[in-house]
Amino acid sequence: MPSGSNAWWRDAVIYQVYPRSFADSDGDGLGDIPGVLNRIDYLQNLGVDAIWISPFYPSPLRDGGYDVADYRSVDTRLGTVSDVEQLINAAHARNMKVFMDIVPNHTSSEHAWFQEVLRSEPGSPAWNRYVIKEGKGEDHELPPTNWESVFHGPAWSPLVLANGERTKYWYLHIFDSSQPDLNWENPEVRAEFLDILRFWFDLGIDGFRIDVAHGLIKDQTFPDIDYSMVKERELLGEPILSPYWNQDGVHEIYRDWRTLADTYDPPRVFCGETWAPTPERLALYQRPDELHTSFNFDYLRAGFDADRLKQSIDATLLNHKLVGAPPTWVLSNHDIVRHATRLAPGQSDHPTVPPTPENADRGLARARAATLFTLGLPGSTYLYQGEELGLPEVLDLPGDVRQDPVWFRSNGTDIGRDGCRVPIPWSGDIPSYGFGPGEQSWLPQPSEWAHLSVQAQDSDDTTLNFYRSALARRRSEPATGDGELQWRTSELTQTEGVLAYTRPHPQLPMTCVLNTSDHNISLPNEFGTEILQASGPGVAIVGSEDGEHTVIAPDTAIWLRG
Ligand code: NOJ
Repeated sequence: MPSGSNAWWRDAVIYQVYPRSFADSDGDGLGDIPGVLNRIDYLQNLGVDAIWISPFYPSPLRDGGYDVADYRSVDTRLGTVSDVEQLINAAHARNMKVFMDIVPNHTSSEHAWFQEVLRSEPGSPAWNRYVIKEGKGEDHELPPTNWESVFHGPAWSPLVLANGERTKYWYLHIFDSSQPDLNWENPEVRAEFLDILRFWFDLGIDGFRIDVAHGLIKDQTFPDIDYSMVKERELLGEPILSPYWNQDGVHEIYRDWRTLADTYDPPRVFCGETWAPTPERLALYQRPDELHTSFNFDYLRAGFDADRLKQSIDATLLNHKLVGAPPTWVLSNHDIVRHATRLAPGQSDHPTVPPTPENADRGLARARAATLFTLGLPGSTYLYQGEELGLPEVLDLPGDVRQDPVWFRSNGTDIGRDGCRVPIPWSGDIPSYGFGPGEQSWLPQPSEWAHLSVQAQDSDDTTLNFYRSALARRRSEPATGDGELQWRTSELTQTEGVLAYTRPHPQLPMTCVLNTSDHNISLPNEFGTEILQASGPGVAIVGSEDGEHTVIAPDTAIWLRG
């Protein structure tokens, strides 16, 4: 498989499986790897090119598996290494690739390495694998810096040894206190992760999504952060460089990883979870000798706003072109409010109250429109399990079932991410809707989800069938995927919240139009008249004095020949 301009990953549609919530084969209420295997034909029929499976390593599950206790094994509740191998083989037999997650920024505090820290002397080699520093203050009672955890509260905790002795040292955890940050200045850490990559590459895995890819290297001067300045500059839209994100030294790590991936046939592939302050900084990760692709979260944050979407697309295309890499688009994942809810009128990026039924319908229409618009863009696209069913965010989970550390660390003031992790409804009228053989599911499913199940949406004009048809169309249209994009302009696109682009092709060019305005728009005929795919029912051919026009309703996107 080439790693150059025709490589599969340059235009793939990759489906994210959050394994604990996808399908439960044994009835313990937790999804598992055999559950994914049982549903592999569903994924093939959906029309995706690859799946990415979120962590399935042994884990105390303090952060949904992103707290890894052993990187060369599988959580017994989720399956075995041999199950993963079978899944890879089954996917390959269907011409699909399989990505898994690697979590290199931190381990679980239950990982053997951290346990060794707790049983050894200060300053021993075991300590040098983590970011551990003396506390400030006369009795070292203060953390070494004022850094805040992404999950609320301080990013340092006092290091208390296994024998109960409280030391003068603190360990860094940019996330939960059960996720100590590794010290990537230590060559032993680098060697260990190359070896872990090799373990899974040898098993046949096609690539890795890299968790917190931008966070591995910390500013070794450990400066305090002026958070009031950070807030001010964020409000002004000015990027700032944090002492623990996007440090220059991180790129060296990925050059080593790329060298390893390129020794395989076919070459293995990386996608970084890179939250970068600017599209320019994001593109640095995709230089030819580093990561193949990286999520582009700037686009995800652009909402249903034509100007912001266009700005984000322009900056992304420009910067990726400079490094010769394809962009990667995503609208939902396991950390973010599902886009059917997020894009509903009047919703913020962090809603706490569900939209009204009318706005929920518009949210779904907008989500479908945004998906179709995104699938037409150059590059690859990630889908998140359940978005093909139009699942909304579940905002009303009771506190006592919530599991996200964000909920606990914020003392219940931030509801966290459980609402996008509710298990998938597959069939039937009552929970667990075929998620498992019985009624169990690790997060409760809403009682009104029967009509959203795969079975209920298998026929007719459903969101599931819209995804199937859009993905099939994307496959058969030669202009989609990697390549050029040309914006189409007319009076309409300049004034009305309408975006239109063409994907050029000598015989079969394709144009995509998105209507984010709140009224019908009538398309100039030069945009094309043959409709290839619509995101919803609001498209009509209407006669007028100067001939026939395509009229597109609000919250709708279409693909046209032209
Ligand atoms: C990003 C992952 O997507 C998220 O789920 C996790 O909590 C953090 N990284 C920490 O690993």
